[in-house]
Amino acid sequence: MSASNVKTHWEKVYTTKATDQVSWYRPHLEISLSLIERAAAGLLASIIDVGGGESTLVDDLLARGHQNITVLDISQTAFDVTKKRLKELAARVNWITADVTKANLAPSAYDVWHDRAVFHFLTSIEQRTAYVNTVRHAVKQGGHVIVGTFGPEGPTKCSGLDVMRYDAESLHDQFGTRFRLVESLKELHHTPFSTTQQFLYCYCRIE
Ligand SMILES: C[S@@+](CC[C@H](N)C(=O)[O-])C[C@H]1O[C@@H](n2cnc3c(N)ncnc32)[C@H](O)[C@@H]1O
Repeated sequence: MSASNVKTHWEKVYTTKATDQVSWYRPHLEISLSLIERAAAGLLASIIDVGGGESTLVDDLLARGHQNITVLDISQTAFDVTKKRLKELAARVNWITADVTKANLAPSAYDVWHDRAVFHFLTSIEQRTAYVNTVRHAVKQGGHVIVGTFGPEGPTKCSGLDVMRYDAESLHDQFGTRFRLVESLKELHHTPFSTTQQFLYCYCRIE
């Protein structure tokens, strides 16, 4: 799928579906929150949520007092919805509307990189290489990278798009030896449609 088609796809999703009527919706991203709390050295840590969409992660990070939050997503529609929900708090967040595989992020800008359910959409080696190069460029040495994808028993499609499935070893392999695997964990996500999806999270430190 071309980059412009990817954007068109996600704008259509967020124009036609309510926040809590998409398969990936959870009221709170509990695993992400607990890993970010472990990774972030304090409330001034620079955190980027890649493909944040309309998720409540940013609400919860703000509520916990985090002061340096960036959310990146390809969909402007998703950001419009999230900003409306956050009201005046939205001004405390840096919003980047971009395709992560083409984003021009500042060097060593982030202490914590978080991605739930974006990397698994990158089905070509070129897209994955571009993503990993962006992580290497944008995350500080000693920073942390949290990536959640579908697990080995997860679905083969999401939002009508093909996805990759990973176990801890194959996901870690995508990033390479500079990324030290601190922990991996699986989650059985209950969708709003009473189905389940297996997720796999890798939590790494860049050395
Ligand atoms: C399955 S949703 C997950 C949303 C959120 N992370 C969550 O867990 O609730 C995937 C998100 O990634 C965004 N996305 C997909 N491809 C992207 C890309 N190449 N660059 C940036 N964002 C992308 C979509 O717009 C969407 O918000």
